[in-house]
Amino acid sequence: MLEFKLGKGGNVEIILLKEDAEDLTKGDKLYSYLEEKELFKGKLGETYFDLSLEKESRLLLGLGKEKDLDLNSLRKAFYNAGKELMKHQVESVELIIPKFEDLSYKKAATAIVEGFLQSEYGFEKYLTEKKIKPSLKEVYLDPSDAKEEEVLAAIEETETLVEGVFLARDLVNERAINMYPEILAKEAKENLEDLGVDVKVFGRNKIEELGMEAFLAVSEGSDKEPQFIVMTYNGASESDEKIALVGKGLTYDSGGYSLKPTKGMDTMFTDMAGSATVIATMKSIAQSKLKKNVVGIVAACENLISGSAYKPGDIIGSMAGKTIEVLNTDAEGRLTLADALWYAATVEKADKIIDLATLTGACVVALGSTNTGAITNDDNLMKNVKESSELAGEPLWQLPSHPDYREQIKGSFADISNTGKNGAGTITAGLFLEEFVDDTPWVHLDIAGTSYIDRANGYLPKGATGVHVKTLYYLVKGE
Ligand code: BES
Ligand code: MN
Ligand code: ZN
Repeated sequence: MLEFKLGKGGNVEIILLKEDAEDLTKGDKLYSYLEEKELFKGKLGETYFDLSLEKESRLLLGLGKEKDLDLNSLRKAFYNAGKELMKHQVESVELIIPKFEDLSYKKAATAIVEGFLQSEYGFEKYLTEKKIKPSLKEVYLDPSDAKEEEVLAAIEETETLVEGVFLARDLVNERAINMYPEILAKEAKENLEDLGVDVKVFGRNKIEELGMEAFLAVSEGSDKEPQFIVMTYNGASESDEKIALVGKGLTYDSGGYSLKPTKGMDTMFTDMAGSATVIATMKSIAQSKLKKNVVGIVAACENLISGSAYKPGDIIGSMAGKTIEVLNTDAEGRLTLADALWYAATVEKADKIIDLATLTGACVVALGSTNTGAITNDDNLMKNVKESSELAGEPLWQLPSHPDYREQIKGSFADISNTGKNGAGTITAGLFLEEFVDDTPWVHLDIAGTSYIDRANGYLPKGATGVHVKTLYYLVKGE
């Protein structure tokens, strides 16, 4: 296990170099040589390992241009440093935390620690031969002018956050054969109860009793029992303010009778990424003992085909009392979320709601895997979520919610339809959800493109990214 310590030590020193020439030529023979031969330019994340068996070895790490330097570039650079050190099976390193123009020591330390930790992630449970061979045991951070307590606090908080991110990734990367509603509920209990989070799990009977007809309809085609998971963390007993985090929890989405083609189905074990982010964020929040009240809510089920599955054309009810015409059984996430959001707004009486969902393929078309799509009924809350997401390096893009889009989901034989007809699929899906938040300030995050990626990108590995654990943590904390 990688451990961060303050002070000097370690058998490799990390030397940070920016892309400007003056930096590279400080009279040091090695730098001048490297520069002359164009072997090292100081580009962001560039590494040069100066291995010395007699004296101390050095790892040169490029930080790119000062003007481009931000938290995310630091994370990337130190992720690369971690990978390079692993390649050489280095066990301990030392680094002087530098003073950056636009970043506080604390923020810089956070990004550096995160980068190192990120370099050790891999989902290798099913590989008989592991590819990642962590070697690093100690990272000595010399705080230079920074306050020691601040750096120590940054280290501790980042370790907790990254643990959350890794948990989210592991839950999403796990395949549906081993990750169905009861397992997800068990994971929530196992990860949260010891930290003082109350975890309640409702099975089919209780879900029926609550009148969650939309959620139940989606679950009908599966032999696995649906689970409604409510995770309560009360870190601020003196306050009655409460924020709800609601995550889509489809442990598999075949599309149902509106069946997906194989190509679109083979990653649908990731359709519970929203719920994984919620569970993992609850863990980081509880572990850091944030003084806030948070409730995490997940309606977990599978969308499959069988003699009892719901069908295109069905008209179903919902906990809110609204009737819904199911034009497409593959627009199932919004049906499960309708009941989960209504529960958050009316039973939990949350003051604010954030939901996360792998909701639409249209979002992948519009924004790819770079930005999460966002919709809101409250610009103020959206502003806060956006700021937190920037701090986290998990960008999002707000989509418009012009009233005209609402026309598309107006029902003809029921109060509302579960799909629109004239494009803007991410927006109409979001506006469908808005019908079930009972005017509570709310932000919807469509993570269909950002939660699972088919090739590695910087410190994000191929597969599950754990996106928005950091965003939600900072939002709840108030950063
Ligand atoms: N889980 C999918 C959305 C999705 C697609 C997530 C690709 C990740 C990658 C969702 O349940 C879905 O099937 N949405 C439909 C909605 C349509 C029927 C209105 C879609 O996007 O095709
Ligand atoms: Mn679907
Ligand atoms: Zn889905």
